[in-house]
Formats: sequence, structure tokens, C-alpha cells
Amino acid sequence: MPVKHVPVILAAMPDRDLAARRLLEVAEEELQRIVLDIHDGPVQNMFAALSQLSLLRARLPADSDPALNRAIALLELALNDIRNLLGAFHAPEFARRAIGEIVEDLAVQHEALTGGTASLEIAPALPDVSLPIKIAVYRILQEALSNIHRHAGTDSATVRVWADGDRLCLEVIDHGRGFQPPPLSGPEATERHEHIGLRGMRERAALVNGDICVDSRPGEGTRVRAEIPIHG
Ligand SMILES: Nc1ncnc2c1ncn2[C@@H]1O[C@H](COP(=O)(O)OP(=O)(O)OP(=O)(O)O)[C@@H](O)[C@H]1O
Ligand SMILES: [Mg+2]
Repeated sequence: MPVKHVPVILAAMPDRDLAARRLLEVAEEELQRIVLDIHDGPVQNMFAALSQLSLLRARLPADSDPALNRAIALLELALNDIRNLLGAFHAPEFARRAIGEIVEDLAVQHEALTGGTASLEIAPALPDVSLPIKIAVYRILQEALSNIHRHAGTDSATVRVWADGDRLCLEVIDHGRGFQPPPLSGPEATERHEHIGLRGMRERAALVNGDICVDSRPGEGTRVRAEIPIHG
């Protein structure tokens, strides 16, 4: 299905302040800290509870207590869910990795999680970009791939990264069911609760002075394009 181009330009925030970039880094650092706290605290205690219950079950005659089996199964399920969630938020070490590698790893992770395919077109010799740009690209790509998996009715995506003059460009394309994108900027911009993912992509781009453009139409697939100035 061809993607028709009905661009919805989400304008960059005018604020080119360094503080905005710092905010992005701080938010990411805090997210990583929360991930680690959850992993090192409650998750470890849940594992301990699971092993205690498993020991208890081993001491009892087989299937003597169905409630115990249910409790163990629920704990296993909860731990699995938390692990998947933490995995999605635990970003790789951005600082020492090139943008191409970061994108490639995320695409591979997406394929492993969904069983789908993410075809990569990463331009050779991409310029080095700042940490906030790497974080923005990672989070935008993560949301775009997650939206494809959850809403597009397909798990095939194409991911492109290239530099156009002083701009780093990211495109995530699917040929799934498409949708009517809500206005995300200007006086009509949606504040609806169910559009947090799309608004988040716009804000991630805006924090590094970039733009997001969502081209989509029902039945015609979706193209999310981010353009970010490499030198601020
Ligand atoms: N690639 C896509 N294909 C089809 N529909 C999409 C796609 N991306 C987004 N949508 C539609 O746009 C809506 C809003 O997307 P958005 O990411 O803002 O929210 P969400 O994914 O529903 O929830 P979340 O806040 O967890 O991201 C989705 O509910 C879906 O209907
Ligand atoms: Mg979403």
C-alpha cells in the first residue's frame, strides 16, 4: 500500500535554550534510575517471595493446595510483565554508541519482541550527534515501532536514518491500516489523553529543536518522519 503524503507538520518549540536539552537528559537519567530502583527493590523481593512459595509447594503433597499454585502462577506472570516493561525502558548506554548502532539495536529488539521485521536503511558514515539527539531519536523510534505493533495491523516496518545537510533524519514507515493523525500543534492541537504517544514524539523532537511529521490516512499506511538539526 503506498503511503500518501498528507503532512501534519508539528512545529519545533521556539525555545532553543540549553536548559531544554538538559531537561531531556535529566528526564532520561531519572527514568533509568526508576528502572534500576524497581529492578533492585520490589522485583528482587518478588523473586524471593516466589522462591519461598516454590519451596513451600515442594514440601507439600502434589496439588494439595490450588491457591498456592495460583499464587505462584500470578507472581511469575507479574514478574514477566515487569521484566518486559523494564526492558523497554532500559535504554542502552547512549553516550559511547553511534546513532546508527542505537537505531539498529532497537530495530533488532523490536523484531525479537514482535516476531516482525524492521528493514534498516542506515546511511554510511553518519555524523556524530549529541547525547540529547541520540536519546530523542531512540525514544521517537521506540514509540513509532510500538505504535506499528499495537495499531497498524502489521509488524513490518522500514526504518531509515540519514543526514541531510545539518539535519539528522529518521523515517519509520509501515504499510498497515493507517489513521487520521490528530493535529498536534497550533490552536487545534489535541490534548487528548489517548494521544500521549504522538505528543511525546513531538515533544522529544522539539526538545532538540526538531520537527516531527506524521503522514497517514486510513488504509494507506503511516510514515513518521523526524528531522533534527545536528548542531542545535
Ligand atoms: N502506525 C500506526 N498505524 C495505525 N494507527 C496508528 C499508528 N500510530 C498511531 N496510530 C493511531 O493513533 C492513536 C494515537 O497514538 P498514540 O501513540 O498517541 O497513543 P496510543 O499508542 O494509543 O497510546 P500510548 O499513549 O500508549 O502511546 C492510536 O491509538 C492509533 O489509533
Ligand atoms: Mg503509542
